[in-house]
Amino acid sequence: MSVMQRNGAAAGPGARAQLNGSRRDLADWGGAAIRLTDISKVYGRGEGAVHAVDRLSLSVGNGEFVCLVGASGCGKSTLLSIVAGLDMPTAGRVDTGERRVAIMFQEPALFPWLTARRNVELALRARRVQKDERRRRAAELLETVHLAEFADKRPHELSGGMRQRVALARALAQDADVLLMDEPFGALDAMTRDLLHDELERICSERELTVLFVTHNVREAARLGDRVVLLSSRPGRVIEEYDVPRTGPRRIDSASVAGLASKITDRLREEMRRHG
Ligand SMILES: Nc1ncnc2c1ncn2[C@@H]1O[C@H](COP(=O)(O)OP(=O)(O)O)[C@@H](O)[C@H]1O
Ligand SMILES: [Mg+2]
Repeated sequence: MSVMQRNGAAAGPGARAQLNGSRRDLADWGGAAIRLTDISKVYGRGEGAVHAVDRLSLSVGNGEFVCLVGASGCGKSTLLSIVAGLDMPTAGRVDTGERRVAIMFQEPALFPWLTARRNVELALRARRVQKDERRRRAAELLETVHLAEFADKRPHELSGGMRQRVALARALAQDADVLLMDEPFGALDAMTRDLLHDELERICSERELTVLFVTHNVREAARLGDRVVLLSSRPGRVIEEYDVPRTGPRRIDSASVAGLASKITDRLREEMRRHG
């Protein structure tokens, strides 16, 4: 995706000084896959204007998995839309270099009249992949998300978790380097979500994906992220960042995940209380 610039300060080492509380050093900043510098977003004008995001700066390293958490309405979805290029910031700069960016939402948004395979093939077709190759790649992607046996089912014949797996395969079909995920597992039951966490972790490390993952589930963030970034209440700004130590396999109910989640929850509560 190309660089978008609107009244923004230049990105680079100079801009890093504005990364309040960030622990990322200059080398990380230079090697970032996503760089957001002083992003603001205002919807509407005059008295009815909604200030959704306020001078937010954040960088996500190549191959890093960053979770964004914050109160409802603090601008998380707005931010993802901006990174995806679906929306423009009112001010600030977004830089994803030449990377290909894919986005996934809570609703899988599959075409109901197409089978799982056809839904994935459609994404490949949009990238002008030839027919035989489309078939082969779609089969491979459905295998990756453990849905090979369900390739010929339509969305209504699949469970919620399976539909999200198809959506994930479709996102992977875009050969993205950066995956943006907006509460993708928010509508799933806890067991299904657990399984999908394991799968997502495996897929991301196999493909060296950079992920920006939005959730309001603090435990999920502590389970999945290399780093958890906490946003303020609206307008969203970065108020705290938590590095998550990588010490072997993590489970959502493990003591280390629970400990970090409770620390983040306390900070989030404090922030929400401050804003009533
Ligand atoms: N298209 C839009 N037009 C006007 N206001 C919007 C629009 N999209 C979001 N907002 C407002 O911006 C704020 C942030 O929304 P959003 O990014 O969806 O928050 P989150 O995803 O953190 O819950 C909210 O107050 C929301 O009502
Ligand atoms: Mg949202």
